[in-house]
Amino acid sequence: MDQRERTHRRRGIVLAGGTGSRLLPLTTGVSKQLLPIFDKPLIYYPLATLMMAGVREVLFITTPEDQGAFRRLLGDGSQWGMQFSYAEQDEPRGIADAYRIGRRFLDGAPSVLILGDNIFFGHGLQALLNRASRGDGATIFASLVRDPQRFGIVELDADNRPLSLVEKPAEPRSRWAVTGLYFLDHRACDFADAVQPSVRGELEIISVLERYLANGELGAETLHRGFAWLDAGTHESLHQAADFVKTLQDRQGMLVCSPEELAYRNGLIPLEQLAALAHAQRASSYGESLQLLVQQEQHGE
Ligand code: TTP
Repeated sequence: MDQRERTHRRRGIVLAGGTGSRLLPLTTGVSKQLLPIFDKPLIYYPLATLMMAGVREVLFITTPEDQGAFRRLLGDGSQWGMQFSYAEQDEPRGIADAYRIGRRFLDGAPSVLILGDNIFFGHGLQALLNRASRGDGATIFASLVRDPQRFGIVELDADNRPLSLVEKPAEPRSRWAVTGLYFLDHRACDFADAVQPSVRGELEIISVLERYLANGELGAETLHRGFAWLDAGTHESLHQAADFVKTLQDRQGMLVCSPEELAYRNGLIPLEQLAALAHAQRASSYGESLQLLVQQEQHGE
């Protein structure tokens, strides 16, 4: 890999700080993003999305208190053929803060930012992610919601081009919510630096996206029927997400959003390494599922 390719390969950021106040008392002792979604920690799901998008270098932004636990869980990423770095966010200043904290890590590369509590799942997701990853400017992912007043909302024209963006609109122009997944080019850090805190005191991601919109450089992918977009921010949604994952895995006997499996399927680790990771976790049903996968691969099933 030459220097140019290294600099221009898209890098990933998982924003996994926050207070998790809607999940109290669960989040008094543990970061929201380390809570279980059935058989694996929540953070595995957004990480899996980045791996599906072909990202190799990931920065995890956590609170200072929680960083040790994230490092213990995820390490330097080499076990999955990845490269992980860590940074602190001492206060939840807003999503656009990720580009300020991540400036040195990104080092002029295009990026994909995902919120640490966002789960994406569906047939064809990898293709959508790859398309966004190859695109110029910025790409957001929009999903239909029942209660648009609670979300950042994007208005789309007949060709799915964004027309307007509004954070938590009183009178929504559409039901397309902006999900917590943003593909931005190398200018994101400069745009984020220019953002002033909003009325609610946050550095809004919408303000960064508006710069791309004003330049005609904002694209949108819509997540239609058959795609699941879940955020695990409340007790109800945490439970629903766990139920969703358990149901899919029970029915199909396949893991949802396993970094080990993605690492193997994306050619980042050989089958022997997958087998070693499975063996180390064999006491759990997660490890058993990985062992099943190893057997299937060995016998070419
Ligand atoms: P939120 O759910 O908006 O905030 P939170 O996690 O602090 O939870 P609560 O509202 O219950 O207090 O955040 C969405 C995701 O983005 C979550 O994974 C945390 C992350 N986040 C940060 O890490 N830093 C930030 O400054 C913000 C705004 C969010």
